[in-house]
Amino acid sequence: MEVKLASSYGFCFGVKRAIDIAQKYENSATMGPLIHNKNEIDRLQNDYKVGLYRDLNEVKPNDTVIIRTHGIPKQDLKDLRAKDAKVINATCPFVTTPQQIVKKMSQEGYSILIFGDSEHPEVKGVKSYGEDLEDVHVILEKSELDNLNFKHDKIATVAQTTRKKEIYLDIVNSLILKNKEVRVFNTICDATFENQDAARDLSKEVDVMIIIGGKNSSNTKQLHTISLENCSDSYLIENETELDSSWFDNKKLCGITAGASTPDWIIQQVVDKIKKY
Ligand code: F3S
Repeated sequence: MEVKLASSYGFCFGVKRAIDIAQKYENSATMGPLIHNKNEIDRLQNDYKVGLYRDLNEVKPNDTVIIRTHGIPKQDLKDLRAKDAKVINATCPFVTTPQQIVKKMSQEGYSILIFGDSEHPEVKGVKSYGEDLEDVHVILEKSELDNLNFKHDKIATVAQTTRKKEIYLDIVNSLILKNKEVRVFNTICDATFENQDAARDLSKEVDVMIIIGGKNSSNTKQLHTISLENCSDSYLIENETELDSSWFDNKKLCGITAGASTPDWIIQQVVDKIKKY
C-alpha cells in the first residue's frame, strides 16, 4: 500500500508547548487531561511520572499542578492557588485570548456570545471569565440565536478555537442585523484549519483515508467529517491496533492525517503498519 501524508497534520503549537512544559515537571500532575490524546498522556505518565487529578480535592499543598491546554474555569484556578499548590499554566495562549476578551468585554458592559460547545472544557473555561454568567451565552447553531435574551444592546462574540469559520460568520451576520453593536473577535485557531485544508485536498486524491486521533477530540472528528465528504472510505482510529486490513482491499493509495493532539510516534506506527498491507 502506498501512503501519502497530508501537507499539514498532527501536533499544533499549543499541544507541543504543553507537552514540553509537562516534561519539565516530573512527578507533577495535570488538572484534567493535558491534551485530548490518551496514548500521549500514558507516555507522560510512564516516562515523566506526570499524574492526573480527577478532582480539585485531590490537590495537596506544595503539589505541582499543570493546567491543561484547554484551560480551566476561573474559580478552579483561584481554588488551586488557595490550596498553596504550585500552579504551572500550560493553557494554550490561543485559549487564554478568548478568556481575556470575555473578561474585558463583560467588564465594559457587553453581553457575551460564545460560538462553541457548552460541554467542552475550553468553552466552560472561557465562559467562566464573564462578569455576569447569566449574560454569557453559548450556542452551536445560528437558529439558537432566537432563544437568547441579551441583557445589553451591545454584544461581544468569541468562538471556540476549533470551530468552523463559515458557521461563525453566518452567526455574526445574523447577530449584527438584530443588534445595535456587535464586537466580533476571531478567536478561531489557524492550526486547526491548516490541518483541515490539507485533509480536504488529500482526501480528494486517495482511495482510503485514515485519520488518527482521540475519539473525544473535536478537531480530529472534524478531520474525519471533512475527509468523508470526498472519500467515503475514511476511518478514524486512535492507534495502529485499530487498523482493519479489509479497509485496504483493492485500494492503492492511502492518505493519512492526524488531529492536533496526535504525537508523531503514533502516526509513524500507523504508517509502518499500513505500508505492509
Ligand atoms: Fe492552541 Fe490551536 Fe492547538 S488553540 S492547542 S494551537 S489547535
